[in-house]
Amino acid sequence: MAIQGTSLNGHVITVLGLKGGVGKTTIAVNLGIGLANKYPDARVLVVDGNLFTGDVGPMLNIRPRRNIGEFAELVASDEQLDTDTINQFIQQHESKVFFLLGPQYAEYNPELHAFTSDSMGRIIDELKRHFHYIIIDCGSTLDRLAAAAIRASVARIVVTTPSILSLKDTKILLSELDAAEQADDIFIVLNQYDPRDPIKEEQVKRYLNQPVSVTIPIDLNAREAIRKALPLINMSTRQSPAAAALRQLVDRLGEKFKPPVRIIQPSELGTKMLRLPYSHPNRNYISVMLVDDQDNMKEMISTMLELGQEQVKTLLKIEGLAASGEEAVKKAEELIPDVILMDINMPGMDGLQAAKAIQAKFPSIGIIMVTVHESPEYWREAIKAGVADFIPKTTLGPHIATSVEEVYNRYIPHRTRYQQ
Ligand SMILES: Nc1ncnc2c1ncn2[C@@H]1O[C@H](COP(=O)(O)OP(=O)(O)OP(=O)(O)O)[C@@H](O)[C@H]1O
Ligand SMILES: [Mg+2]
Repeated sequence: MAIQGTSLNGHVITVLGLKGGVGKTTIAVNLGIGLANKYPDARVLVVDGNLFTGDVGPMLNIRPRRNIGEFAELVASDEQLDTDTINQFIQQHESKVFFLLGPQYAEYNPELHAFTSDSMGRIIDELKRHFHYIIIDCGSTLDRLAAAAIRASVARIVVTTPSILSLKDTKILLSELDAAEQADDIFIVLNQYDPRDPIKEEQVKRYLNQPVSVTIPIDLNAREAIRKALPLINMSTRQSPAAAALRQLVDRLGEKFKPPVRIIQPSELGTKMLRLPYSHPNRNYISVMLVDDQDNMKEMISTMLELGQEQVKTLLKIEGLAASGEEAVKKAEELIPDVILMDINMPGMDGLQAAKAIQAKFPSIGIIMVTVHESPEYWREAIKAGVADFIPKTTLGPHIATSVEEVYNRYIPHRTRYQQ
């Protein structure tokens, strides 16, 4: 894969703050999207540093397929971390930004205690090779991931708000960073600033003994953006003063830390990186799709499956129909059925080509060819292309339900690999 040969040494930016709810995730996500807007050729990754319940995914309504907690476990158990493995954990959002998400639900995993700040450092080093910017939302606890992230970072965004308690925690954080000799390149972001508030920017600066890099006004659009799962930073200055301030932050960081020189062209990107791992629906029945250019053939197969239902243990449901190879590929993507029964000879893309295309993208779907071809050589070739089984058209009967169930059972390991 082309990407393997590149080494970017991307910029790691951590977003920190000991107090909950000050706006760390809002800033991390919008900074990532802002940098991707500013440098369209740059590859930007936002990492949810929360190993237990992540907020980054819900903020943009992205469901993690595999999460950072599982990633950390893997790193703890596996010294070798290759690009393909990393790719399985990374998802791309429509903004073009890549995400390594936290778990969707609270998950306690004792295995997580196994990883160290060193192993986290290794993850970050590996990520730096592939992304121009890596924004890490460190959450409110200075755990081992945060420690490794801070060490690797070129900029540390310390988020605070104009409240006594938040400022007190910010002061503690700054002295912790100082004690750890990580006090360089700190950018203080004063968020949720209300001009009517008695605590002014100047006082914040004096109390923290640090300049404030950017002040983000309090703005209800921040919450509205989450409700709509849209990036706040994409709102206009007129609509949202917070969006305008976030763009200032992007400019400040983006100018100081320009994307490392080697910008990878899309044609160089690894196909695996672009081919996102999908999630196979976890059903309690067999979702079947029928593909044939002749309607009477589809009807016949459907009747046979209905008649054969009593011979099998699992409920069969025909949920998709397609009349061509092209349509089969499209519908397979929408439905992700468990088993496809497909004709071979169809006008345009034939059944075997469609089977190959579907298999390449969704290896968890079992594909049975319904065919007039009966030569063993032909079948062998097709099996090599990823076809699960054959049913000769000449022998169609209720027993095809058992073939469907057999393929369904045989593909359990494939499906579970792609189920959450
Ligand atoms: N400038 C702002 N004006 C108004 N509301 C804001 C602003 N920034 C963030 N918020 C809101 O504050 C809430 C908390 O934000 P966010 O989740 O980003 O904070 P956090 O520091 O990541 O919290 P946690 O500590 O739980 O991880 C969200 O509802 C968000 O919409
Ligand atoms: Mg957060």
